[in-house]
Amino acid sequence: MVKKPEPIRKADVIWMDGNLVPWADAKVHVLTHSLHYGVAVFERIRAYPQPDGRGAIFRLREHVRRLFESAHICLMEVPYTKEQVMEACREVLRANKMNEGYLRPLAYHSDGAMGVGAVNPVKLTVATWYWGAYLGEEGIKKGIRVKISSYTRMHMNSDPTRAKVTGHYLNGVLAKREALVAGYDEAILLDQQGFVGEATGENVFVATGPSTRRRSPAGSSRGSPATASCGSRRTRASRSRSGASRAITCTARTRRSCVARRQRSRRSARSTTAASERERWVP
Ligand SMILES: Cc1ncc(COP(=O)(O)O)c(C=O)c1O
Repeated sequence: MVKKPEPIRKADVIWMDGNLVPWADAKVHVLTHSLHYGVAVFERIRAYPQPDGRGAIFRLREHVRRLFESAHICLMEVPYTKEQVMEACREVLRANKMNEGYLRPLAYHSDGAMGVGAVNPVKLTVATWYWGAYLGEEGIKKGIRVKISSYTRMHMNSDPTRAKVTGHYLNGVLAKREALVAGYDEAILLDQQGFVGEATGENVFVATGPSTRRRSPAGSSRGSPATASCGSRRTRASRSRSGASRAITCTARTRRSCVARRQRSRRSARSTTAASERERWVP
């Protein structure tokens, strides 16, 4: 039986173009252009509780910078400054009295004109809610089962894969569904040359021994990593016909060390937040 994700844990309000709107009223028109053509850019940001009970947003500046880069790649003009978007992220956490949570800023084209050539005004929303470990606490403790997808990661010349665009996620959604139906937890997508790209919602690390080497294949993944220095880097498996099976073997053989690495990386994410990102504290 396919595991169903938990329903979202609702917060009180969502930031929509400068207003804090009650969760249930945060709606868009059914002819919103982005809903039809998949051109909306977004980020996934985490806030962590700190020892004194307050919260801190992890790498807020980097995420917001990437949001603007994604918008730029898609020729979208975000009608806010980066500072305003950062403040919106803090404000929505404060308004919901959350010291821990997931933040989802999203810039999209509103309704107005229709058709592929339409360029409707860009709107921005920042939602937050509590979201636990992406692949579940159980996955952190015991590891997960991953399959190499039959879907290929799209090529950067057909889609600007460095931009974090909603439309790109069709590729990941299909790969994830295929994996779940086949009894796996997650899928890894290879690019058209057989390089490991990324998973459907995460980067891929390959532990090759004590001195792990990580390499980022230019443009083979979507989005440029916002969390690279704390461990979220894409790693390339060897380029060969056995690329897929090599990645599977690697995953199985190093599962325990991968789990330990992920735990270390989460700990380091928390302590980095506490140590160096103080200006990003929210009450
Ligand atoms: C497909 C995909 N790859 C990788 C990542 C991780 O990105 P980063 O750690 O750069 O935020 C995400 C997160 O949103 C993702 O959706």
